Amino acid sequence: MTPVDDSARIAAFEARIAAGETIEPKDWMPERYRKQLVRMMSQHAHSEVVGMLPEGNWITRAPSLRRKISLLAKVQDEAGHGLYIYCGTETLGVDRDDLIGQLLAGTAKYSSIFNYPTLTWADMGAIGWLVDGAAIVNQTALAKASYGPYARAMIRICKEENFHKRQGYEIMATLAAGTSAQKEMAQDALNRWWWPSLMMFGPSDKDSPNSAELLRWKVKQKGNDELRQRFINLTVPQATAIGLTLPDPALRQNAESGDWITGPIDWAEFMQVISGNGPMNRERLAARNKAHDEGAWVRDAAEAYAAKHAARRVA
Ligand code: ACO
Repeated sequence: MTPVDDSARIAAFEARIAAGETIEPKDWMPERYRKQLVRMMSQHAHSEVVGMLPEGNWITRAPSLRRKISLLAKVQDEAGHGLYIYCGTETLGVDRDDLIGQLLAGTAKYSSIFNYPTLTWADMGAIGWLVDGAAIVNQTALAKASYGPYARAMIRICKEENFHKRQGYEIMATLAAGTSAQKEMAQDALNRWWWPSLMMFGPSDKDSPNSAELLRWKVKQKGNDELRQRFINLTVPQATAIGLTLPDPALRQNAESGDWITGPIDWAEFMQVISGNGPMNRERLAARNKAHDEGAWVRDAAEAYAAKHAARRVA
């Protein structure tokens, strides 16, 4: 078979991207663009779903009804985020069951951050403030991504993430202004979550194999380092405002740019976590598999219900 010459179509596609147009599911796109989106969006959807586990663990132990209601709503929102993004991924011609199968088999990546344990109630504060805070910085940029269904999903998700961040920061501020034991608990949570939250943005641009292509195609609007720096600059004053200290003796402000410069990030730890050897990788996958198996009856019932209605329509 003669190979198809796609050069004219690729040039037209890239001209549309350069002009700031949005690519929609029925538009022609290079196979590589489609594959990159499936990779990134499915990892993102998996992260939302696995991300329910560390916090779900604390719903029954929330210290008041108000906190319980907020946490319950937040965890439920994350399930919704997973749903929007899986639906977005399906517009690229993949089957959601296959993607979930990859997650359950341990062959798909999801965010490194969710492979750390939640040891105290203050971790609910640290996750909302730092993890959802980092997600907002990353996803506000993705809301302008060149692929329409992904960008549109980000708009609603970012609104919800704002509530998540606020409830987390409020938990931290309350603990930090409480008894010395409560303040210690908040500081300990910050100490454990700070560095992993910086790793959420991915490796430094020079070690990021996907960034150049994704930036060229405007899936990513900014590189990993720029977004990480933005998050650091936003978060340092927030820690100071509630009397907590970032666990980084090397942290200093660049007088000229105003940027807060951190000490070195432990990329060896990051590589361990994304290779499946983080503190909680095995537990997270086991919990997802258990939930999937125990939910089999719900999927069966939904299919039987759909089949019954389809049969009625035919009749
Ligand atoms: N956790 C797990 N894997 C990561 C992480 C991370 N924090 N950062 C990078 N990686 C992986 C990449 O997926 C890639 O692996 P692959 O090529 O096997 O797929 C590899 O490390 C190299 O990284 P990059 O080339 O920098 O990858 P990419 O250009 O896709 O950038 C990033 C990574 C920034 C995470 C990007 O994919 C992204 O913005 N994704 C959407 C947002 C997202 O997934 N958020 C999840 C957490 S937010 C939340 O759930 C609340």
